[in-house]
Amino acid sequence: MTTTPTMTEPDVFDRLGLTQGHCAVVGMQYGDEGKGQIVDRLAERFDYVVRYNGGANAGHTVVIGDQKFALHLVPSGILCPNAINVVGNGVVVDPEQILKEMDGLRERGVKVGDNLRISDRAHVVMPYHKTQDALFDHALSKASGTASIGTTGRGIGPCYADKATRTTAIRIGDLLCPDSLKERVRKIVGIKNIMLQALAQSCGDPYTPLNADQIHADLEKHAQRLRPHICDTTQLLYQAGQQGKKLLFEGANATLLDIDHGTYPFVTSSSCASLGVYPGAGVPGGTLKNVVGIVKLYTSRVGAGPFPTELLDETASQIRERGREYGTTTGRPRRCGWLDLVAVRYAVRLSGVTAVVGTGLSVLRGLPSLKLCVGYRVDGRIIDTVPASCDLLARVEPVFEELPGFDVAVDECRDANDLPAEAKKYIQRVEQFIGVPLAMVCVGRRRDQILPRYH
Ligand code: IMP
Repeated sequence: MTTTPTMTEPDVFDRLGLTQGHCAVVGMQYGDEGKGQIVDRLAERFDYVVRYNGGANAGHTVVIGDQKFALHLVPSGILCPNAINVVGNGVVVDPEQILKEMDGLRERGVKVGDNLRISDRAHVVMPYHKTQDALFDHALSKASGTASIGTTGRGIGPCYADKATRTTAIRIGDLLCPDSLKERVRKIVGIKNIMLQALAQSCGDPYTPLNADQIHADLEKHAQRLRPHICDTTQLLYQAGQQGKKLLFEGANATLLDIDHGTYPFVTSSSCASLGVYPGAGVPGGTLKNVVGIVKLYTSRVGAGPFPTELLDETASQIRERGREYGTTTGRPRRCGWLDLVAVRYAVRLSGVTAVVGTGLSVLRGLPSLKLCVGYRVDGRIIDTVPASCDLLARVEPVFEELPGFDVAVDECRDANDLPAEAKKYIQRVEQFIGVPLAMVCVGRRRDQILPRYH
């Protein structure tokens, strides 16, 4: 039975049980599900907002009144006056980018001071990581028989690769040791120049060698400004927990882009599922009480990779335009398609989701019917989960259920009970299939367009 609270009630999130203990907010598809909107609302009720994965490849949009904020590295809690925002050790930090974001926020009157902490164990995205990202993708797209991933070009993969290589990595804490930093940068840039020159040559691209001294000088400048924000964030979070403070973990990218569990190799290079909270923030297993999974009520994907429910017709254009489906980070048009419940159920299981928020309902307005993928048909059989093999996933044919559409301006609804019967039916089928209730439905990006549903 659904009752009808409004977002002005002080206890909506409490009633939904989402503020009882530490919580994570994670995307259940290929990113861009609207996580920023929910983190923003939840952040007011938490003491700390913590990023645990990814880097500036993420783009979290928060709309407050008539102001729109696009955040990439700074946690969304920065817009809440009382939250401490933590960039955890699992994040890869581009110093220039985070400083640009901090400056932009300050210019708009947002406080960015001791409410922003950056882990000394986080890794630094260096200029050569971005060069490597672009060159490598270009080389792959030129080589026959290989597919490029179509990365965001933010240097994410090369930075995480250096983290695993170890000897060519630079961590945020290293910025605090100016004596050894210069020599380290020189050595690493020397190696990178040899590697990148060869890569550029292989695809006929010009290459201007990177200048180690210039890179070091820029890094030093950035280090001076970042210094007050750098600390051992694992200790900070441990102490916060001891004092009974509540932690909110903000997932970047999304579960189907997870390095281990996503549609590998068409994924990003970090642990995006809630599983990544523990290594990426340095908190013990079992820390999370709740995991909120954000599900866009259709599917979008940026970059390459299998997408069984992708639409290539007029419906895709309609969804793209209505949903303003263009990358927050790169501006690329997103691929669009029907909601893939098989993939969402898989993501919900992996992240241990306790409550789902459905977003983008208003985008589906005016479509004569709505399709939900409830199975994959391949090689004469039906499979009901996401296979490890990307080649297999690329070959599956979706098994659809077709439901009637709705043509009502649901973006004006302020109560889930007032949604048209067809939309309610669609939502009910989603929650029935994935086995977790939809605690809220978003009918727009504003704060007042989040409609709670009590079960
Ligand atoms: P990378 O993270 O830049 O290496 O990109 C790897 C793949 O993940 C590419 O297909 C990107 O488009 C995709 N990707 C990475 N982060 C996001 C995100 O936040 N939203 C949507 N797609 C993303």
